[in-house]
Amino acid sequence: MLLEARNVTRLFGQKAAVDTVSFTIEKPGFIGIIGRSGAGKSTFLRMMNRLTDASSGELLFEGRNILALEGKEKRAWQGQCAMIFQQFNLVPRADVVSNVLHGTLARRGMLPSMFGFWPDDDTLKALAILDRLGIGEQAPKRAEALSGGQQQRVAIARALMQDPKVILADEPIASLDPMNAQVVMDTLRRIHDEDGRLVIANLHTLDTARRYCDRVIGMRDGRVVFDGTPDQLTTGVARDIYGADASFNESATSTSIDRLGTAGDDAYADRMLA
Ligand SMILES: Nc1ncnc2c1ncn2[C@@H]1O[C@H](COP(=O)(O)OP(=O)(O)O)[C@@H](O)[C@H]1O
Ligand SMILES: [Mg+2]
Repeated sequence: MLLEARNVTRLFGQKAAVDTVSFTIEKPGFIGIIGRSGAGKSTFLRMMNRLTDASSGELLFEGRNILALEGKEKRAWQGQCAMIFQQFNLVPRADVVSNVLHGTLARRGMLPSMFGFWPDDDTLKALAILDRLGIGEQAPKRAEALSGGQQQRVAIARALMQDPKVILADEPIASLDPMNAQVVMDTLRRIHDEDGRLVIANLHTLDTARRYCDRVIGMRDGRVVFDGTPDQLTTGVARDIYGADASFNESATSTSIDRLGTAGDDAYADRMLA
């Protein structure tokens, strides 16, 4: 068993933001968590990465309860579990390669970076990762000069610099236009396919989850209300997850990525192979 959540709960006052969430993940997959705003998606990812503490429950990764780790062990886990955010969280005025090198801080500590010093092997690794993600030529530019889609790929490169076992992405495409959203989702999918890393992405749109994920977990009011394959995610099920009434409209939860082409298209294949 790779990951097992056992009654993971997070209370804020009286309210359970995450309420007795349980599921198991057998092997590295591309997992989407969907649900409307306030469903508890971010809180769950933040507990997994130990940015926030759980109130109760266990989260076993390879048999170890990562919710109970402290100090050095907790930091080591955070190094293995990289996080990608909606707003990229780059240092805007720093160059791209330095932003990627920040992914080594968990391992090396702050001191080298304070002097602008990075070991050569790390710099070469950062450049190779940027190349792999198709943005090698952006390396010397300031992060703020890049498009949103490029900035999110820099954030993914920074995550890869940690060589993480798990990549958590909290609404990674919510700030992007459909074209950039597609590039970023293709990139995350590639990292899963080629490296075999577990990717868990919070996604607020149904079409993206259907298109990219092997498995989808639906949350509503802190609880898991769906756990299945994209095929099983029918309109009726979606209506239940999003808690919408009869006026539920799928386009309200769509990023329009599908209109840009689908798997099987030549253009799509080109992007995947690029
Ligand atoms: N730091 C906090 N303090 C109090 N309530 C919070 C805090 N963070 C999240 N919540 C509440 O927890 C619930 C789940 O929030 P969140 O995990 O951000 O949901 P989602 O990511 O699905 O939109 C919401 O009701 C939210 O208001
Ligand atoms: Mg959120």
